[in-house]
Amino acid sequence: MLIIKTIAELKTYLKNEQPSLKIGLVPTMGAFHQGHTSLIKRAVQECDRVVVSIFVNPLQFSPTEDLAQYPRQLATDSDLCAELGVAIIFAPNLEEIGITGDASTQGQLTTITPPATMTSKLCGKYRPGHFTGVATIVTKLLNIVQPNRAYFGQKDAQQLAIIRRLVTDLNLPVEIIGCPIIREASGLALSSRNQYLSSTEKSQAAIIYQSLKSAAQEFFRGETEADNLITIVKDQLAITNEVKLQYVELVDPLTLKPLAQVETIGLLAIAAHVGNTRLIDNMILRQPIIAIDGPAGAGKSTVTRRVAEQLGLLYLDTGAMYRAVTWLVMDAGIAVDDEDAIASLVKDVIIDLIPTDSPEIPLGVQINGQEVTKVIRTPEVTANVSAVAAQAAVREQLVKAQQLCGAKGGVIAEGRDIGTNVYPDADLKIFLTASVEERARRRSIDLKNQGQKNIDLPQLQQEIQARDDKDSSRAIAPLRKADDAVEVITDGLTIEEVVAKIVNLYQVSYQ
Ligand code: PAF
Repeated sequence: MLIIKTIAELKTYLKNEQPSLKIGLVPTMGAFHQGHTSLIKRAVQECDRVVVSIFVNPLQFSPTEDLAQYPRQLATDSDLCAELGVAIIFAPNLEEIGITGDASTQGQLTTITPPATMTSKLCGKYRPGHFTGVATIVTKLLNIVQPNRAYFGQKDAQQLAIIRRLVTDLNLPVEIIGCPIIREASGLALSSRNQYLSSTEKSQAAIIYQSLKSAAQEFFRGETEADNLITIVKDQLAITNEVKLQYVELVDPLTLKPLAQVETIGLLAIAAHVGNTRLIDNMILRQPIIAIDGPAGAGKSTVTRRVAEQLGLLYLDTGAMYRAVTWLVMDAGIAVDDEDAIASLVKDVIIDLIPTDSPEIPLGVQINGQEVTKVIRTPEVTANVSAVAAQAAVREQLVKAQQLCGAKGGVIAEGRDIGTNVYPDADLKIFLTASVEERARRRSIDLKNQGQKNIDLPQLQQEIQARDDKDSSRAIAPLRKADDAVEVITDGLTIEEVVAKIVNLYQVSYQ
């Protein structure tokens, strides 16, 4: 790993890299905690080279804020980056980046001013100039590094919305990835500023998250009125004198417009002072996303469909999406190993999953407007789907489509990488599995029912084990239990029992 301090050196390094390599940028102000490491890990997973910038940006601090006191720890931060597989730390000094004074000197620089509709509320109301400071440095960093992707934490939800808007408005060629909030066991959101808290203050601060959680629980019980949800938070925070609420607002997470009611999705955001430390936290309120992953033969699709029915969620059949693309490839006469032709075929593909009233075919499938519900289930498609689904371009395109389907929640999906890759911030993640012996036994019953005789059970077990090994070790979207997934082992359980278990897990967490 290199620690680079000048723009010229960074440019030379990046120029020598192959243009096809995917560059990821994680902009930070250092003083890493697990929130940062989660961004870095995600970037390392998704990109070929990761640049982590460390720059305490004076432009986003007002003269009365904690610029001088802000923790700086380049040595420990670099060790952590090296361990995580970062290629470069870009740590310019003030002069190099062309910013010296604090937010009060913004008039002497060309700055990027986000729309007032996005900065006049939430934190922006109490931190004038802050988001101009953030937008200016982030634009500079994006221009200097020119990454394919840049990673930001959802904890700074207003910052994330403003950066997404900035990238759209200025046509910057970068994909912005928002990553979930990481919390302590108490629920306190991790922040570099938590270092300022005494241990008593730390435990007092946990009420911020608890108040958001109480509002989220009421939301899942059907409360959607902003005033009522906000009152829940205020009432809970009023229990303690030590936590002084600055604001609690319910807004649209993209436009930051205030919401009177959560129709599909809302951002409930708080700032509060604990002692002298200002803390922020937030929660997205939307119908849940449930991710079900697990090995082949664990009964995922049947279970997922039934859970979807019971909880009134859309069943996102990701397998049907891969089948639809496979059908399209075959219909176009393209060989299934012609990765370039397939990549251009899937570039603009549109797949629609349409719930039906029929219990046999609960989901209609269309690809590019063509009805393909039945044809994607033929043995020819079955024989080719794993070869097509393993291709990076197909995977990337369909993961994007799946994320779009889930953007407003209300979705349950199953696959191999739903909780780890497609919906890393799913509300409930299940890893549904069964022993190799149990899956071989179930498969043998299926085969018997299909009229097959002389079934070799040890042979079936070997095949299942080989498939597990292949799925877990493949380079693209390997099968892996997400760290925060609940493992459900289905040995000895009926489908009804498994469904009841998952519904119960959902209800315990959200109702
Ligand atoms: O979120 C942060 O740490 C900062 O606001 C950022 C994005 C690095 C800009 O200075």
